[in-house]
Amino acid sequence: MKILITGATGKIGRQSLLQFLQHPSITSVVSLSRRHIPSESLPNSEKFKNVIVKDFSNWSQEIMEIIKDADAMFWAMGTNDASSGPNFDWPVAFQAAMLKAREAQSRTTRFRFIFCSGKFVVQNQDAWLFFLPGARKLKGRTEVVCLEFAIEHKDVWQTFVVKPGGFITPDMFGRRLLPMLMGDLVIDCDEFSAYIAELIATGKEEEGLIYNKRMVGKGRELLQTKTDRT
Ligand SMILES: NC(=O)c1ccc[n+]([C@@H]2O[C@H](COP(=O)([O-])OP(=O)(O)OC[C@H]3O[C@@H](n4cnc5c(N)ncnc54)[C@H](OP(=O)(O)O)[C@@H]3O)[C@@H](O)[C@H]2O)c1
Repeated sequence: MKILITGATGKIGRQSLLQFLQHPSITSVVSLSRRHIPSESLPNSEKFKNVIVKDFSNWSQEIMEIIKDADAMFWAMGTNDASSGPNFDWPVAFQAAMLKAREAQSRTTRFRFIFCSGKFVVQNQDAWLFFLPGARKLKGRTEVVCLEFAIEHKDVWQTFVVKPGGFITPDMFGRRLLPMLMGDLVIDCDEFSAYIAELIATGKEEEGLIYNKRMVGKGRELLQTKTDRT
């Protein structure tokens, strides 16, 4: 299967990309980014293609030609401020462009869209929030719009909104202690990326919002199964 990713130069996107390239069901990964990603250090780099996108609000014919036959997208681009482009406008524009491109094809499978939101994102636009109110509510609007889009186009589209807690990167000090100290507030990069690779490859999960606890538990199971096999 062919999958797409945005945000692959970031913390969450990078770890996910590494797992996607190692997943046996994924044969092609196209990263859409504003910066070049060197492929030399990537595993199975022959599966990887990097497309530089100058304007994510405009999904040009040229780019759609490269990605229109993809099966799924992981939208890991985003910021912790209230920038509308990467957090709202561009994923919404992508959905419309991809839907249009697929209408011209006779695909029998549904497109799988995974949006990386966050544990502290809030859909209620009237909620009083102590920290990062603008950013948390903006992504809450994106969650709503993406979920509504999937309902409206349910025969051809499915959406999963993942809500990770603080992402523990491989180089983080006290990496192994943090989950014990912070519990469900955080998720380890290995657990998250194992979970997200399986989700994008199989879609075997209840559609809609997916919370941190679920991803930690399922991610651990997947890693354990992998260890048992080796
Ligand atoms: N890290 C966490 O603990 C955490 C937890 C929960 C949710 N999240 C959410 O998950 C998403 C990814 O987080 P992260 O920690 O991986 O963030 P990150 O390390 O800052 O990476 C952000 C990614 O988005 C891209 N991006 C941001 N603004 C862009 C723009 N204007 N145009 C093009 N690309 C842009 C960056 O590209 P460049 O490299 O070119 O800048 C990078 O690939 C964010 O929405 C974040 O809020 C993060």
